Amino acid sequence: MAAAKRIEIVRPDDWHLHLRDGAMLEAVLPYTAALYGRAIIMPNLAPPVRMTAEAEAYEGRIRAALPEDHPFRPLMTLYLTDTTDAADLRAGFESGAVTAVKLYPAGATTNSESGVTDTAKVASVLDAMAEIGMPLLVHGEVTDPDVDVFDREAVFIDTVLDPMRRRHPDLRVVLEHATTARAVDYVLAEKQGIAASITPHHLVINRNALFAGGLRPHMYCLPIAKREENRQALRRAATSGDGRFFLGTDSAPHPARLKETDCGCAGIFNAPNALEYTARVFEEEGALDRLEAFCSLNGPAFYRLLPNDDRIVLEKGETPESLPDSIAVPGGDSVRVFRADPVPLWRLSAGRRPVGRTA
Ligand code: DOR
Ligand code: ZN
Repeated sequence: MAAAKRIEIVRPDDWHLHLRDGAMLEAVLPYTAALYGRAIIMPNLAPPVRMTAEAEAYEGRIRAALPEDHPFRPLMTLYLTDTTDAADLRAGFESGAVTAVKLYPAGATTNSESGVTDTAKVASVLDAMAEIGMPLLVHGEVTDPDVDVFDREAVFIDTVLDPMRRRHPDLRVVLEHATTARAVDYVLAEKQGIAASITPHHLVINRNALFAGGLRPHMYCLPIAKREENRQALRRAATSGDGRFFLGTDSAPHPARLKETDCGCAGIFNAPNALEYTARVFEEEGALDRLEAFCSLNGPAFYRLLPNDDRIVLEKGETPESLPDSIAVPGGDSVRVFRADPVPLWRLSAGRRPVGRTA
């Protein structure tokens, strides 16, 4: 059979996205809005998005950065703290203003200082969420500096996630940006109530990419890329078609100057080419027929939403599409775009709306 050169799928969604605010929001939003129907918007602004009214205000700023009547739909999340108000969260979910709640263990990553110090402190909030079916999105890493950074996800699953799920068996949980075979095995072993988002970059790179020929700050994100055997497990999970795994790009822009420095920020910006890399992975795994499930169907099913009602077309070219290495942020900063060889030959040939500026 000839290798596929064209694939048509239901328009994808991004189930984990950092858009930031202000000038950065303006710079990065066009790349996501050009392609995805919806995206789950992470609340780790400074200060974080903690209350429904703050999520509504943030959604307003996102919508204001889009052309009028643009069909892209941001799905807002609240940032869980030790003092989150269950009544506010419940009202936000029931009105449709808020789709999910994000749990950052305090200190785990960018702007997580106000995160949860102990899941026991939010037990009544988790009970309310379980009752109304509101998903809890989990950054699954322990923050104990004595735990090896490459082990923090596996230790979190055993010491925080699993005990929390035993205490709240009806809670619907997404283990965000799964990076380990342990995470995949954990999700597969459970009967219900847990899914995992997977990023394109964790399907493409392993931890060697951080040190290839020198220190590579643009390959640094959290959870950090792990050993090759973990990448292989993620690829098997993503391409399996299993409804518990779906695309969350974790596109997380930082100005290049804040990554290329002592104590550089964690985050990989992949919004301009995340789907193309994902298609490359599915082609390499002989699973292009399951790309649609991972990118466009499994996520809506978990979130109890309908899939998008239009379609996009990807075509395989002879040479890589000429994408910018960096994009410009109004005010003078630039953000590096994720790149790992081989650069995908897949490109969108139909269904993309025009995008913004390059550096
Ligand atoms: O690499 C990361 N960047 N991981 C996160 O959890 C947060 C994100 C960010 O906001 O920059
Ligand atoms: Zn993230």
